Amino acid sequence: MNSSASASSVGGHAGGFAATHRSDNWWLGWVLTAGGLILFFGYLTIRAFQGTYFWSGHGLAYISPAGSPPLFTPASGYPGAVPLSHAWLGAFPRWWPKFIPQSPAFFVPGLAIAFRFTCYYYRKAYYRAFAATPPACAVGGAPLKYRGETALLLFQNLHRYALYGALLLLVFLWYDAFRAFFNEHGRFGIGVGTLVLVINASLLSGYTFGCHSWRHLIGGKLNCFSCDGASKFRYTIWKKSTWYNQRHMLFAWLSLFWVAFTDFYVSMVSRGVITDLNTW
Ligand code: FES
Repeated sequence: MNSSASASSVGGHAGGFAATHRSDNWWLGWVLTAGGLILFFGYLTIRAFQGTYFWSGHGLAYISPAGSPPLFTPASGYPGAVPLSHAWLGAFPRWWPKFIPQSPAFFVPGLAIAFRFTCYYYRKAYYRAFAATPPACAVGGAPLKYRGETALLLFQNLHRYALYGALLLLVFLWYDAFRAFFNEHGRFGIGVGTLVLVINASLLSGYTFGCHSWRHLIGGKLNCFSCDGASKFRYTIWKKSTWYNQRHMLFAWLSLFWVAFTDFYVSMVSRGVITDLNTW
């Protein structure tokens, strides 16, 4: 997929799809990005439709981030479902359509999807991976008309509002991590699952607090960073956010991988396939 002698020259670049003068393995990032997005989002989508094994009450109480917070829980027929006593609004309502699985993943985790889908980093990732317009810098793109966020993708400007949902979700995920230090009867303990859930909440915090919208929210619209206590405080938070922002892609991938891994771990403990090592 390197430069083609027959490719026409467009503004100094090679013309035609995937044509380029680059001599490095530019396609590797493209393939890895597309593969990673399909793998992790595919896994989480399948798990959302399964609606099972989101909860493990053997020993310490673990809940999968894919099903948290559980607004509703199925009354029966879904092994590993969150107990009724832990569902925020009780059992799924009678009017819930029979052809849609009773999965708690269809509610609040949607906030996380909205946040990631409109994220500035993910926009670049999925444009390149799936629309390939272009697939990489200085590489010929697919013959699609790119109009940025002025047409179909206009909704991406809602990212700043998706941030509020993500911040709310973080509260629930830290609560789940805190709950993972206790069993169902309130007895304290630490297990491998506890650490998995704490790392999950930490990585998602790193991703969320590196968000461009968060950085603007906390440090924007200020003319002076040192005029009073409030502006100095905001400057301190802004500098920390900048550190995360510079590593936003890293946290985007680490947190995505770890959400899937956390769900996998909780589901395996819930099924009894893995025995959680813990102090309980
Ligand atoms: S820019 Fe990526 S989460 Fe906001």
